[in-house]
Amino acid sequence: MFDLTGKSIVITGAASGIGAATAQRLRKAGAQVLIGDITDCAESAAQWGCTFRHTDVSDADQFAALLDEAMERHGRLDVLVNNAASAGVHDMAEADAERAARYYRINALSVLVGMREAARRMERGGAIVNVASLSGARGTPGWGEYGMSKAAIISATQTAALEFGPLGIRVNAVSPGGVATPLSIAINGDALSRALEVLAPLGREGQPEDIAAAVHFLASDDAGYVTGQNWFVDGGWSVGTTVQTLGRILA
Ligand SMILES: NC(=O)c1ccc[n+]([C@@H]2O[C@H](COP(=O)([O-])OP(=O)(O)OC[C@H]3O[C@@H](n4cnc5c(N)ncnc54)[C@H](O)[C@@H]3O)[C@@H](O)[C@H]2O)c1
Repeated sequence: MFDLTGKSIVITGAASGIGAATAQRLRKAGAQVLIGDITDCAESAAQWGCTFRHTDVSDADQFAALLDEAMERHGRLDVLVNNAASAGVHDMAEADAERAARYYRINALSVLVGMREAARRMERGGAIVNVASLSGARGTPGWGEYGMSKAAIISATQTAALEFGPLGIRVNAVSPGGVATPLSIAINGDALSRALEVLAPLGREGQPEDIAAAVHFLASDDAGYVTGQNWFVDGGWSVGTTVQTLGRILA
């Protein structure tokens, strides 16, 4: 089930967190995995059985070169996981257009370019999985600038699914809620983890492996009839408030 034997997969931003967990999981499922990141992880990648190429995804030429390398190494490209992102917490009252544009360039425009370049190389069809965010679809105090870039990913995922579907290329997004990664811990400390014990119906913060599992399914042929979707992987945080949580608020 979810076998990826022989698949050629490129994943961005896999030096740590969700990307690292995903690269390891996809490799264990049999894929040949090439990682592109601005953070050097060549040593870990080799331990996982993956390959690393230094890549800034906000540079279109570097992104195209990463995909070319997958073609050269593996003879094909089957899956692209657009996971790399930059983030920070800033209230809307202090919004900064330059900073928001930087998030947009790194997080959203890279996905646009990556999808275009991947589709040109996926001669036998394939799958693209874009890592968006709950903040791209729900109001999230402090995450407005970043959330705008993630909303763009959700929109582009739907349009790409329509345009690339006839080419046999499926395009989906995964939107994590709160996940314990270096990025999240640096920004939130343990506050988000404690909050999600109450706010998420499943009673805990997400782990990188929870997101990796969803990406794995969407990347595999088992998801062969799934495209254009944005899958919230958030312990149920986005769908409402449990009776138990309401009770705590009202107590
Ligand atoms: N952790 C969470 O709670 C959470 C929630 C929602 C969405 N996400 C999304 O999940 C994805 C992974 O995040 P994470 O929490 O694992 O963060 P992380 O910081 O652990 O990993 C992000 C990776 O992206 C890389 N990166 C940043 N800018 C890059 C660039 N220009 N080119 C190439 N690589 C670049 C970093 O070097 C890093 O390795 C991101 O898209 C993030 O927005 C995370």
